[in-house]
Amino acid sequence: MIKIGIDKMGLALPNYVLDLKELAKARNTDPDKYTIGLMQKAMAIAPVTQDIVTLGAEAAAQILTDEDKAAIDMVIVGTETGIDQSKAAAVYIHGLLGIQPYARAIELKEACYSAAAGLEFARNHIANRPESKVLVIASDIAKYGLHSGGEPTQGAGAVAMLVSANPSILELNWDNVYQTRDVMDFWRPNYSPYPEVDGRFSTEQYTDCLQTTFEYYQQQTGKTLDDFAAVCLHIPFAKQGLKGLRSLKPSEKHEERFLEAIVYNQEVGNIYTGSLFLSLLSLLEQSNNLSAGDEILLYSYGSGAVCELFSARLVDGYRNHLNPNRLEELAKRQTLSITDYEALFFETISLDEKGNSPELHPDDSRFALQGIENHKRIYRKN
Ligand code: HMG
Repeated sequence: MIKIGIDKMGLALPNYVLDLKELAKARNTDPDKYTIGLMQKAMAIAPVTQDIVTLGAEAAAQILTDEDKAAIDMVIVGTETGIDQSKAAAVYIHGLLGIQPYARAIELKEACYSAAAGLEFARNHIANRPESKVLVIASDIAKYGLHSGGEPTQGAGAVAMLVSANPSILELNWDNVYQTRDVMDFWRPNYSPYPEVDGRFSTEQYTDCLQTTFEYYQQQTGKTLDDFAAVCLHIPFAKQGLKGLRSLKPSEKHEERFLEAIVYNQEVGNIYTGSLFLSLLSLLEQSNNLSAGDEILLYSYGSGAVCELFSARLVDGYRNHLNPNRLEELAKRQTLSITDYEALFFETISLDEKGNSPELHPDDSRFALQGIENHKRIYRKN
């Protein structure tokens, strides 16, 4: 059978970061609650000129060649923080990147889960058209609001994955199993800028969905945890992932790999659809204990709820296709004061009666929102 999987991975984060110890101080909370209780260190903060389109475009621009852009015939963006109820973010991104016109571009939604579905759709598409490539992007800005329970678990960023035949990083196995259950653990009504969250209930649903789906996965595939060199999970905050993993009774080896798989998430926070893939990237770039042929189990969870377990196999030479300097790049982000975080992350754009925004702050990123004219979002490419 033709081998299909992830050929390249890109990551885009905004240039700003907030240290969670500063947030704890400002919220009269013991910093240990965030750093030990949630196992988080910092969160990525996006200015108003950065959104799911600019971050998604940047993540993809880092990895695509002209040859890739000529071969891509599908662009899938998974997000739960869309900028338009009708037009797909994938259409803007397709335009900003200059991908050949005879491509399909769509946006998928189901909380943090949808990019995992996008990955399977991409694989199935390529099984029928082995010459084509599919760009799958997970892009989100996670905002719970000032003084909210979820405030220390916010974040922003995008992961782009180029899916192709004979991939250079990971081959996807054909073992996906899913579960859907209609629960209200986390949701965001159309009229609200922030999600409604039943925090404790959401943590229980995450773990129960994992356990029950893993039982089903074992029945369907005959595989056990011992078949995997590592497990990557959706990481709303690192402690949640650890609790989920422990519910599967992992070996010491799995716990060690888990610590390598959360290095980036601890510095970025929750990026919703991208969190699982950020964790995967962290594992692949930070672990010296994996080798070609190793199998990795992946758990995607989106509140509401839909989850999926699937696995992938590491390709020979995979590390040559990743970024060994990612941590140095993360360290270059500008650290914000609490006052600047509150102003920057929660700034909103007010429109005049014709649907025009005032001039936005300058942003010299490769892709930025320049403004809104006549209700149209205008993106600038530097
Ligand atoms: P909370 O209720 O303020 O915190 O918010 P807590 O009291 O549960 O404490 C958190 C942990 O810190 C606990 O650890 C405490 O013991 C510990 P645990 O007992 O659970 O292991 N702690 C301390 N540790 C050391 N020193 C201290 C200290 N104080 C306390 N001084 C909550 C926690 C998760 C509810 C909140 O952050 C929240 O609402 N987050 C958002 C929802 C969320 O992330 N849910 C996760 C599962 S759902 C999911 O993953 C989907 C999602 O990504 C969305 C989507 O799908 O779109 C969220």
